[in-house]
Amino acid sequence: MRIAFFGDVVGKSGRDALIKYISSNKAKHKFDFIIVNGENSAHGYGISQAICAEFFSAGIDVITMGNHTFDKKDDLQLFDREKRLIRPLNYPKGTPGQGYVISEIPFTNQKVLVINLIGRIGMEQNDDPFSVVNEFLNNFKLGTNIEAIFIDFHAETTSEKTALARYLDGRISAIIGTHTHVPTADPQIFKHGTGFLSDCGMCGDYNTVIGMDEEASIKRFIYKIHARAKMIPGINEATVCGVVLDIGQNGLCKDIQTIRVGGFLKEQKDCVPKCAGI
Ligand SMILES: [Fe+2]
Ligand SMILES: [Fe+2]
Repeated sequence: MRIAFFGDVVGKSGRDALIKYISSNKAKHKFDFIIVNGENSAHGYGISQAICAEFFSAGIDVITMGNHTFDKKDDLQLFDREKRLIRPLNYPKGTPGQGYVISEIPFTNQKVLVINLIGRIGMEQNDDPFSVVNEFLNNFKLGTNIEAIFIDFHAETTSEKTALARYLDGRISAIIGTHTHVPTADPQIFKHGTGFLSDCGMCGDYNTVIGMDEEASIKRFIYKIHARAKMIPGINEATVCGVVLDIGQNGLCKDIQTIRVGGFLKEQKDCVPKCAGI
């Protein structure tokens, strides 16, 4: 089974680049299942019903979120209505929506469990992701009652991401970090078979400050008065940043490769074609 995951989609340039990439590469690279982090897809802040529909019709199977989950306050019921849109599992009880979803891949009927978690270092107060996911995963055994388990861990620091990933090694297929909007160069498969990357990077305009207008972002650091000003996403061509995971019969990761295509970041031209056709 081949899973493709794409990091934080920022604004219209991120959405357009990602949808274009998927339409020309989904069949070519044999993606069985596509997951996307959509926390910044609505002009940098949250997501809407219309964007969910746009993503699902483009072939995206599950949308994960993060600290911007509830930025759009006009339709919080969206998270209860749309089961393929998930928010962090370690949000307090009573929070709208679900922290996980189990989806079936058409024709093969293989089940994929997708979990969204959020970190605690440098983030708002959240429940402990370690204990929450540890208890939740007791219900699942890879290769027995579930074919793949994927986690999007939305966190600020590479240390917290790596620690959680190693804590779960062998119990899940892969855990990929999001939130920093900058791709890291540490894709690996741990000794018990879990695939990992500290941060996937964003699908967004890299001629900005992590996806948002350069001038406003710089002012925000210099002048106190701008500290709370909302910023607008960059409008240049986005770089699509993602990861491709090949999952074996036992549910563990056989291969992990990164995608970095288009826009201002230096491309990785040979990454996905190498694993296509496995
Ligand atoms: Fe983000
Ligand atoms: Fe975030």
